Amino acid sequence: MGAEPILELKEYTLFFESNHVRYSILDAISLTVKRGELVGIVGESGCGKTMLGNSISGLLPDNVKGIQGQMRFFGVDLLSLSAKKRNKYKGSKISMVFQNPNTSLNPVISIGRQMTDVIRQHQPVHRSQAKSIALKWMSEVGLPDPEEVFRSYPHQLSGGMKQRVVIAMALSCNAELIIADEPTTALDVTTQYQILQLIQKLQKEHRVTFLLITHDMGVASYLCDRLAVMYGGRIIEAGPTGLVLKQPVHPYTQGLLKCLPGQGKTVEDLYTIPGVVPSPVDFPEGCRFSTRCEYRNSKCSEQKPPWQTDDEHPGQWYACHYPAGGEEKSIAAPFG
Ligand SMILES: Nc1ncnc2c1ncn2[C@@H]1O[C@H](COP(=O)(O)OP(=O)(O)OP(=O)(O)O)[C@@H](O)[C@H]1O
Ligand SMILES: [Mg+2]
Repeated sequence: MGAEPILELKEYTLFFESNHVRYSILDAISLTVKRGELVGIVGESGCGKTMLGNSISGLLPDNVKGIQGQMRFFGVDLLSLSAKKRNKYKGSKISMVFQNPNTSLNPVISIGRQMTDVIRQHQPVHRSQAKSIALKWMSEVGLPDPEEVFRSYPHQLSGGMKQRVVIAMALSCNAELIIADEPTTALDVTTQYQILQLIQKLQKEHRVTFLLITHDMGVASYLCDRLAVMYGGRIIEAGPTGLVLKQPVHPYTQGLLKCLPGQGKTVEDLYTIPGVVPSPVDFPEGCRFSTRCEYRNSKCSEQKPPWQTDDEHPGQWYACHYPAGGEEKSIAAPFG
């Protein structure tokens, strides 16, 4: 679906330094997002999901010591542009939706003013035209009585309504890609479900392209066309959601799926992946999951597994020497 690639990351790596030791938090990330797709980034806390989403949108931490690889947006290699040009380019096309909508809203300015200001930063329209655009998108995202919301201040709205406003803002600026980082984690279950339905509706009806960042495999599997599973700053498996759920290749993905609560499972039945995620300064040389993997051998701790696919798993890519604990597979050249 959606043939045109909007975002292409190839071997994207972010280096940091601590006590003169260089280490990578994002390591050789390769990911393509096509127009109209809803791609999920999943993985345990601390695996680098936010770091990835933020670096795509241009919110790099100050202490980054080096960047490698490629980040193409509509074919333009953003890393070859100056930081200023890069941020200007991205700012007009990529919008972020954060876990806490207050991050994106100014508490002392009315919703209407904030929306029209943002619209006018992106389009040469009069204030009255900007208002019509704002009201149209507010109604599109399911805000009841958009005129009333337009006059309101953030504190007068519920968390779910504020999240809808933030999404309406992104849409009213014609964002090409919306990166939603745990957009429903702070909401109650009913509101969470409604926002997820909204994201789905926008993707299906308006072909909005989403990168959905979530630690909730259930949410991701419900919504996403494709999943990228992260561990220790790397994508360790990616593929169409149905395939990743049905026949996960990487032992880490298999472990994550076993952890999911399900009907008929009791607390005793719930599985947890043994061990803990190492700190980024202590990642092993080879596979970063090797310290916790039941199938590991010496090769796993010494050699970084290549990003590969095989005939048994068409469309699925993974970084594992012994997928599913089995034989080493033949390696296809990455990126065609
Ligand atoms: N500015 C920084 N400098 C160095 N390390 C950082 C910096 N910001 C985050 N980290 C580290 O990077 C790793 C990835 O963090 P990140 O916030 O991206 O994880 P996450 O997957 O979003 O987790 P969560 O599910 O809890 O939101 C963590 O080990 C974190 O401590
Ligand atoms: Mg995060």
